[in-house]
Amino acid sequence: MILGPMMRYVDDVSASIWCETRDAGRVVVTAAGRSWAAHTFAVHDHHYALVHVDGLPPNSTLPYTVAIDGTPVWPAERSGFPASVIATLGDGHPVRLSFGSCRTSVGHDEGGNRTHGVDALRACALRLSSPDNEVQRPDLILFLGDQVYADLTTEEMQKFIRARRDITQPPGKELADYEEYAHLYSLAWSDAANRWLLSTVPTAMIFDDHDIRDDWNTSQSWKRQMNATTWWRGRIVAGLASYWVYQHLGNMSPAERANDEIWRLIAAHDGPDELDLSAVLDEFAERCDRDPTSYRWSYCRDLNDVRLIVVDSRAARELDPARRALIDEQETGWLNERMRGGFRHLLIGTSLPFLLPPGLHHLESWDEAISEGAWGKPAAWVGERLRQLVDLEHWGAFQRSFRAVAKMATEVADGQRGTAPATVTFLSGDVHYSTVSEVERTSGSRIVQAVCSPIRNPLPVAMRSFSAVMAYGIATRLSAFLARSARVPSPPFRWAGMRGPWFDNCLASLEDTPAGLRLCWEKGVVQGGDQLHPLVENVATVVLAPRAP
Ligand SMILES: [Fe+2]
Repeated sequence: MILGPMMRYVDDVSASIWCETRDAGRVVVTAAGRSWAAHTFAVHDHHYALVHVDGLPPNSTLPYTVAIDGTPVWPAERSGFPASVIATLGDGHPVRLSFGSCRTSVGHDEGGNRTHGVDALRACALRLSSPDNEVQRPDLILFLGDQVYADLTTEEMQKFIRARRDITQPPGKELADYEEYAHLYSLAWSDAANRWLLSTVPTAMIFDDHDIRDDWNTSQSWKRQMNATTWWRGRIVAGLASYWVYQHLGNMSPAERANDEIWRLIAAHDGPDELDLSAVLDEFAERCDRDPTSYRWSYCRDLNDVRLIVVDSRAARELDPARRALIDEQETGWLNERMRGGFRHLLIGTSLPFLLPPGLHHLESWDEAISEGAWGKPAAWVGERLRQLVDLEHWGAFQRSFRAVAKMATEVADGQRGTAPATVTFLSGDVHYSTVSEVERTSGSRIVQAVCSPIRNPLPVAMRSFSAVMAYGIATRLSAFLARSARVPSPPFRWAGMRGPWFDNCLASLEDTPAGLRLCWEKGVVQGGDQLHPLVENVATVVLAPRAP
């Protein structure tokens, strides 16, 4: 086994366990005296299996082992970590979820910690694996984008690239093909502590731009520039094909897999030879890029009484200036059906924060308007340059989508779509600082934006003040005036920052407690020079008490 086992989709009766193997083979998962098996499938000379473990009792915690062709491969011998378990959901405890975004893959020694800070994910993994741990394990870790950086590569990744092609030729130090993506994922998930964590805590994921490239699908003109290069086609095909294999496959429930065009080929394969999906997946990836409406990367899960909707805010964009949208019509319709009350909390995972600091939000809406010609052609040229230069590409820069989703959230919060939940909470990453902000409302559910970014990719100190000025220093009144002068209608509600920003590498957690939704940001700290065994330290805690009726 090269990578994994990774605990992916889990509900109250089933679990999906993913792995990458060195050779073709039959992967068997054993727990509580029962076994489940899957044959590997191949993609560009890599081999993968997803084992569907079913018929489990709700609320159970079962240690499991993995064997390939009869040879035990997991747990690793003398790993020093506790047994990996399959922990099914059930009504036994309130939902606990961890989330965060942006994690570069560098070493965990002094050098890596000096340049990139302590990996917050790994610090939490070490705490959870420690014999005297008193912290409850999360039901799910939600990775909100930039799980891998395909454009900003580490030295280790560059060494791998250099060994196989001329790095002076495009795309240079950026990723070129599936083989390089496979290596990038192995760098991201193979450290022993993180590998153990990912084997035992379920994960859900969604891409952001760097999983493909900075500014991915920011505008039609951006896409034209990319299509004009020699290397973009290879990159987007490899990026999306590997995303399906490494990230998306495990996001799907068994029922969603049964309807998935690629999974159906795997499930239907019944021959002595391993199924090779290379050509099919490449074609599929190219089609997804050409026609985003042909496939859905978003997904929705009900974790007991909490609904989690994870929205693809990158691939499902409509870039035609006449119909520009962060999520296209099909995606908006899909989201609209799922934005419902009747849950304790409604969580919406979107890599890009839905509510940015208001000053920045107005600036983005102004930039969108002038880029589309509100102030004439020369201003449109400036608007487009500005958009790409300083990443003015969040929800505020796609007013059509911002308004549509704001309306859905408000209707849920007002109890117009079923019983109002205690909160409608957006979970996001991307911006490399963490914050909490809230919509100003006097009745109904609280509408909240929580951001946790980065897990391990801190902004350089000089950039922090720039970002803080960008985000918080922009005079809200001035940018609101600019937006109005470009004929952008006012937002449907007002919101303000509640806590933050803080710039530490963090993993956030969220727990549904009797006092309210408890959000907690934690970082890893090195003590006594022990770089490899950081401890976890609290950065901030916010409890969102339900509004008195
Ligand atoms: Fe990032």
